[in-house]
Amino acid sequence: MKGYNVAVVGATGAVGTKMIETLEARKFPVAQLRALASERSKGKALRVRGDLLAVEELKADSFKGIEIALFSAGAKISRKFAPLAVKAGAIVVDNSSAFRMEKDVPLIVPEVNRYALKDHRGIIANPNCSTIQMVLVLGPLHQRAKIKRVVVTTYQSVSGTGLLAMVELREQSLATLEDREIKKKVYPYEIAFNLLPHIGEFLSNGYTQEEMKMINETRKILGDEGINVTATTVRVPIFIGHSEAVNIELEEELTPKEAREILGEAPGVIVMDDPDRNLYPYPRMAAGKDEVFVGRIRKDSTVPHGLDLFIVADNLRKGAALNAIQIAEELIKE
Ligand code: A2P
Repeated sequence: MKGYNVAVVGATGAVGTKMIETLEARKFPVAQLRALASERSKGKALRVRGDLLAVEELKADSFKGIEIALFSAGAKISRKFAPLAVKAGAIVVDNSSAFRMEKDVPLIVPEVNRYALKDHRGIIANPNCSTIQMVLVLGPLHQRAKIKRVVVTTYQSVSGTGLLAMVELREQSLATLEDREIKKKVYPYEIAFNLLPHIGEFLSNGYTQEEMKMINETRKILGDEGINVTATTVRVPIFIGHSEAVNIELEEELTPKEAREILGEAPGVIVMDDPDRNLYPYPRMAAGKDEVFVGRIRKDSTVPHGLDLFIVADNLRKGAALNAIQIAEELIKE
């Protein structure tokens, strides 16, 4: 099989390191791997396939000879460097929010809308972590009984913010338990033993950026602008794993049993739903796993055709790195 020259931008970050691990774990055909990060990380060694790989500083000419560039260094970096990568001949899979809502940029969760991939012009966007795990579950239900409205509340781990936030949660937790002074750098308030209904900036409509991402991206991926979505996104003191309480209203009746059957067949989804045996998904179980877990499926009798669900996934894997590599796998199949 042909090998591809792959660059990972943000290779030292929470998602970038997972991207490199995932390329290895899924035996993606890599001919040459280039690890790119900021000047601070230049020369740092990463362990890849048992070898050491030196991190290079990201520069305008970093993409010479690169065929696939995986970006996860934030929207600003993507806006500046993704077009340069495309110009150099690479196809970009971008994990940032920079291009997600642009018309000619496919926003892809392969199990749900791989058909939209063919329309790309060099950049394919990887959706927001919370959106990916939600649409993986909602997609098959929407196909069967058409979703009219979604109300979602999230419980998102600090790894979604990045490595520095993981360090902050650890340090604040230790400081609290040891009765030491609590230092804050990443979040405006303490995250240890707390939670913050604040992910991304607040917008003039009262929602946060993260909430609007879930609203807009869900419609784009499900290919249905008619779905009403509202979201409250909350940061919680968990290292890895995002959880979501999701309420949906469907056009047609769908029983919890039927929903479990449909989701039982859905690729990438595992139904964990047996209250009698305390079986339901939770983040410590989902961390380190590739699948999206769903449970607590029950009828909501307060609306016609309503269902409640609880969805959990490893935000660094299916929520970010794994989905990006799956997109790259689809691209090389073409
Ligand atoms: P670096 O480690 O050199 O700062 P996280 O999301 O975990 O915070 O990681 C962000 C990633 O984006 C890291 O790999 C980081 O590299 C990279 N990054 C941040 N700023 C830049 C920049 N100006 N140029 C290139 N890479 C950057």
